[in-house]
Amino acid sequence: MAERTLVTSALPYANGAVHLGHAVEYIQTDIYVRFLRSCGQDVVYFCADDTHGTPIELNAAKHGVAPEQFVARFHDEHQRDFRDLDVRFDSFHSTNSPENRHYAELIYGRLKDAGDIDRRDIEQTYCEKDKRFLPDRFIRGTCPNCKSPDQYGDACEKCGKTYNPTDLIDPKCALCGTPPVRRNSEHLFFRLSRHADFLQEVLKRPGFIHPGLATQLQGFFEKGLADWDISRDGPYFGFAIPGETDKFFYVWLDAPIGYIATTEKWAKESGRFPDALAYWGKDAPTRIVHFIGKDIVYFHALFWPAVLKVAGLHVPNEIKVHGHLTVNGEKMSKTRGTMVPVRDYLDLLDPSYLRYFYAANLGAGVEDLDLNLKDFRLRVNGELVNNVGNLANRALSLLAGPLEKKLAPGRAEGAGRKLVEDALARVPEVREAFEKLEYRNAIKVITEIASTANAFLQTAAPWALVKKDAEAARADLSDAADVAYLVGALLAPVTPRVSEKLFAQLGAEPLTFQALATAKYPLLDRTRPLGTPEPLLPRLEEERVNAIIKVPEGTPAAEPAKAGGKDKKTEKKPMEAKGPDGAPTTQASPGAGAAEGAPAADIEFADFAKVVLKAGRIVAAEKVKGADKLLKLDVDLGEGTPRTIVSGIAEAYPAPEALAGRRVVVVANLKPRKLKGIESRGMLLTAGSGGKDLSLLEPGDVPPGADVK
Ligand code: 2FM
Ligand code: ZN
Repeated sequence: MAERTLVTSALPYANGAVHLGHAVEYIQTDIYVRFLRSCGQDVVYFCADDTHGTPIELNAAKHGVAPEQFVARFHDEHQRDFRDLDVRFDSFHSTNSPENRHYAELIYGRLKDAGDIDRRDIEQTYCEKDKRFLPDRFIRGTCPNCKSPDQYGDACEKCGKTYNPTDLIDPKCALCGTPPVRRNSEHLFFRLSRHADFLQEVLKRPGFIHPGLATQLQGFFEKGLADWDISRDGPYFGFAIPGETDKFFYVWLDAPIGYIATTEKWAKESGRFPDALAYWGKDAPTRIVHFIGKDIVYFHALFWPAVLKVAGLHVPNEIKVHGHLTVNGEKMSKTRGTMVPVRDYLDLLDPSYLRYFYAANLGAGVEDLDLNLKDFRLRVNGELVNNVGNLANRALSLLAGPLEKKLAPGRAEGAGRKLVEDALARVPEVREAFEKLEYRNAIKVITEIASTANAFLQTAAPWALVKKDAEAARADLSDAADVAYLVGALLAPVTPRVSEKLFAQLGAEPLTFQALATAKYPLLDRTRPLGTPEPLLPRLEEERVNAIIKVPEGTPAAEPAKAGGKDKKTEKKPMEAKGPDGAPTTQASPGAGAAEGAPAADIEFADFAKVVLKAGRIVAAEKVKGADKLLKLDVDLGEGTPRTIVSGIAEAYPAPEALAGRRVVVVANLKPRKLKGIESRGMLLTAGSGGKDLSLLEPGDVPPGADVK
């Protein structure tokens, strides 16, 4: 039986707006799901609101509503946000649902029957005034390490130290300010420690989790896996534990069960299956893939597989972990306005820009992704609006105008046919990149394909040819339209609405990865009339982009961004983010504390003014023999004869011929120098860390020789 894939994104808390940091995960997952679907795979994508726990209960009380009412508001809001981001779940349910209660009780019963539930008395912090136990985040006091006042009970935001609430100096209840007391209570524990061997075996399964994370998780086994406290005392918003008095399932027990509950709801509503066990049954022919952030690895890679195994259910096959979002090089912050709600972004901009930018920066690792607003604007304008948009527009506007919306039949040979066939030959690269979550590689190949087609048009100049030989121009333009069609198909998982628009303008059916597996030249049905061309997307304007950050009123002027970006002290490392009780653990993370480069010294404007920057257009590019890193390029700077420039970008651009036609920024007054015996007259500007991670800077649609200032 064919395998069915079930994909999830982590459940957002029904306690606030979804922001651009959350959107990284939903966009990453949605691209993956759309890609699998385009490949013809049977895939479902589920998510739900995570509704339980103390913070939601207290927030509801603060707003004077019952928690059920409070979470219902967010359910509607979250669904609208996801819809407008083009994130398409097959079902978006809630953990506060009958399906979730059913599965939470069923799973708990099975854990109990297996002898995996233990009772223990534990001492916790209690507020006698509020008559409740206080989670660590609800205790404030002075940091025992750096003595900063008003810190949380689990970690100091000033010095980054993690500790127990009992270590705090002068602790107070965060709700009422009275000093809390210590009090005993009986709790239920899941005996996780009994499953260490099983979990170590799971961590070694191929593809289960990034090998670097599997190694980091080993640290928990070395310390000895602790059993997991799955109960909370009332008052608590959650499911009452059967057979107990005033005890509730801890939110992190029933949150992942929400994946199963959502499957159940969808299975029944769609009529596809009688229940969730079609996916979650132990031997169901399914591949279960969870996308999560690096702060919740512990729950998904250790607790969840153990719970599922003991309950006789399907253990997840793959856990895809991503890094966090930084904005302009810094941790997101409410006070600086950089924790941008998705809705604020959507009020100003089309989701395609964000989806494109995230994809262009996402790899399969857990490194953080930076939304630098200037890079965002320049990259999206340079690649999506100019490169892809221009290809479609140039090809289509002539065909639709003087050439009456008619395409030419495919040609037996020639540069146009080769253009399409070469582009088709690159589809497996794109496919592999999407499969491996190396989206930035996929984007790179797609933009190279579009650049090559733009260079082809530049050389063929159909706008001039059409006056002399209309049929020859039609043939060239039809081949360029074929490439635009292909680019639309390859980009469809990333920017579905752009691709839909493009397909409509081409008068063509959506083109899928499945169809591309056997597609041949010509791609378009050349007998069908074209649609009406119009720009795919407007350029991003600086003012509009900057307006997505709204500094809340009454906030003091923002501190300038620190050199080196992130606030290292409070940045969470993958395994130290949230421990079993939502508290930071002390697991060290390799690479923490790596030295930052020293900020460069300031220069005078006059120094900068000495540098002559010009826009150029690459005429030709080739590898330099005997030098893996170098390319030799001929670059038109509007001087009549192109200049030869040798540049160390060969690893980033393995197909140099595709660079022809690409616009670049050149340092035009560097003293000529010889590299591998070739005189280089200028330098190309790039961004990135070097090697494969380099992108040529694009000046936009300006003629060769234009000044760059
Ligand atoms: O960290 C969070 O935002 C949680 N609400 C994620 C839950 S994912 C799953 F386990 F339900
Ligand atoms: Zn209190």
